[in-house]
Amino acid sequence: MEVIISKTYEEMSALAAREIANLLNTKPNAVLGLATGSTPLGLYKELVRLHKEEGLDFSQVTTFNLDEYVGLSHSHDQSYHYFMTENLFKHINIPVQNIHVPSGTALNHLAFCQWYESRIKECGGIDLQVLGIGSDGHIAFNEPGSSLGSRTRIKTLAKQTIEDNARFFSRPEDVPIYAITMGVGTIMEARKLIMLANKKNKAKAVALSIEGPVSCQITASALQLHPDAIAFVDEAAASELSMRDYYLWIQKNKPGAPRPQ
Ligand code: PGA
Repeated sequence: MEVIISKTYEEMSALAAREIANLLNTKPNAVLGLATGSTPLGLYKELVRLHKEEGLDFSQVTTFNLDEYVGLSHSHDQSYHYFMTENLFKHINIPVQNIHVPSGTALNHLAFCQWYESRIKECGGIDLQVLGIGSDGHIAFNEPGSSLGSRTRIKTLAKQTIEDNARFFSRPEDVPIYAITMGVGTIMEARKLIMLANKKNKAKAVALSIEGPVSCQITASALQLHPDAIAFVDEAAASELSMRDYYLWIQKNKPGAPRPQ
């Protein structure tokens, strides 16, 4: 896995946005996998800026979001539908029919999950999937113990995740305990994965996912098996990486990187 360490959150977000912009410039009808949470907010802000100021075009782009809370409707201000609309979709020129976010209110969850998987395939598969990482090492809502071959399904959230997310709800008992989430197997089929992590509270999960053994206890560690995965991390999130200096050395000396004269 390639590891890119940035000094600041803004720099990390801009580098990740550049990956997406490069993809859209070569494949304007790319299929993007998107994530919610506080981590990708800077990335979405930068994509909106690139759209408004540099004409980055989303008119042929299709998106699939990783997950959604079960029980929250599109208009609930903590739903991931709402998050995506407010932070990205309403600011760019993506056609609404090209947007896919799992439904938290589907009556038949099983049928919905199967449809979501088949819809991804119908659209040609995901070209680039954006990922955050939970403090327990999860990607999407694939909590510790999730099969590394799992597909889109209903998942019971871990206590740690419910506690991490409680800050967004007025009462702890309002935090949903189920989510529909793409599986690790679904995510691993994307042609490129970019995982973002900032802040100290992610440092341990980042180190375990990049340098630890591949394990269902840290589902982000599955990225080690992906042929094209990049971790974009800030200094704080990188602080427990034992090979931090080597990653920085590679960043500086990569073939094609600008060399000091
Ligand atoms: P966060 O969540 O970006 O809000 O830290 C990440 C995740 O749980 O995947």
